[in-house]
Amino acid sequence: MLFDFIFRQLRPLIFSGDAETAHERMLTIVESISKIPGLIPLLRRQFMEEHSVLRTQLFGRSLQNPIGLAAGFDKDGRIHPALFALGFGFVEIGTVTPYPQAGNPRPRLFRLPEDEALINRLGFNNHGASEMAELLASTLKRFIPKDTDIFELNSNLTANIASGMLGINIGKNKDTLLEKASDDYVSCLSMLHPYADYFTLNISSPNTEDLRNLQEKDALRVLLDSVCACRDKLDQNHSRKTPLLVKLSPDLDETALGSSIRVMKEFSIQGVIVANTTVKRPELKSKQRNENGGLSGKPLQKRSTEMIRNVFQKLGTEIPIIGVGGIFSGADAYDKIRAGASAVQIYTALIYEGPGQVRKVKRELAKLLNEDGFSSVSDAVGVDS
Ligand SMILES: Cc1cc2nc3c(=O)[nH]c(=O)nc-3n(C[C@H](O)[C@H](O)[C@H](O)COP(=O)(O)O)c2cc1C
Repeated sequence: MLFDFIFRQLRPLIFSGDAETAHERMLTIVESISKIPGLIPLLRRQFMEEHSVLRTQLFGRSLQNPIGLAAGFDKDGRIHPALFALGFGFVEIGTVTPYPQAGNPRPRLFRLPEDEALINRLGFNNHGASEMAELLASTLKRFIPKDTDIFELNSNLTANIASGMLGINIGKNKDTLLEKASDDYVSCLSMLHPYADYFTLNISSPNTEDLRNLQEKDALRVLLDSVCACRDKLDQNHSRKTPLLVKLSPDLDETALGSSIRVMKEFSIQGVIVANTTVKRPELKSKQRNENGGLSGKPLQKRSTEMIRNVFQKLGTEIPIIGVGGIFSGADAYDKIRAGASAVQIYTALIYEGPGQVRKVKRELAKLLNEDGFSSVSDAVGVDS
């Protein structure tokens, strides 16, 4: 495959420089070439490979497959049409905050190649919710007929540009006091409501001071109270039903996890994402292992799967879980599904393995499901829990 081949040839060059600079260059190149007429369909032809056993339902909507892109890869929503063309069933953009912010000083993203991991302390660098809204509006316009009122489209907005769901991951600005955090989430939700197939509340990034305290029961109750009320009102005004998800940290202990889940059950929450990056440091080999920040990739894999199992035991099938952390193969995705995830997401593996990774994971997962006699993903959800 042409694009896979190009990635493999360029990989040593890409990996020789600073990790964040390489990522930014990739975003700029993909953003520019995406505008070339015919390029997205070409990407789709190269990468799309669907398997009937992978077709599934999430939040009552149909997905071609349960493999999604995790938040943080495309923080501003610059290249999501190209990302859908790689074959993802859903793509989550963000984390976006109400106002633009620069994030932490560089360097703040590190490769740990011997561990197939990354450490980042980016700190929600993003262009802000208002710029994201403008960008999404103009992207939609390129794909839908002129003069269409976006509120008149059917519930799945991105069905118009791709056969998948677009999630928007929202957070709070660094300077916003924790007691005022709800205002930031409400503000992002209000600005971006027309464009999201679902929203994720990021209350688990380790790189914004105190953010993870929002997982604590009293703070979480205040947050969910405001955000759910805002979502319900916007949905009612526009005859939609927008799922709200909460993304959790893998560093929560059993007691804290239990109380967060109990609070979530009090509200109309449609999904839980397990998990964000960890500040824990299992044994690591790479030179950059002592950098501060959130660790992702292979070293997170086991912890995230155990946490999915734990959350599934607490939630059952009541609220779907999206499993994320160290998925490099179909077998890794399958483990998380069997532990209780209804769908999964990938980030770090895409950095190491390149754009063919999505097709590979889907092919391997379909084979495993077929071999074990499952006729769909949903039949395998939680069978090991
Ligand atoms: C460089 C980088 C930036 C990230 N930024 C975000 C973010 O903005 N919001 C978020 O919810 N998660 C963010 N994440 C966490 C991922 O979405 C994911 O939860 C985590 O990396 C585990 O998945 P993985 O092992 O497949 O990478 C980021 C991860 C990385 C590596």
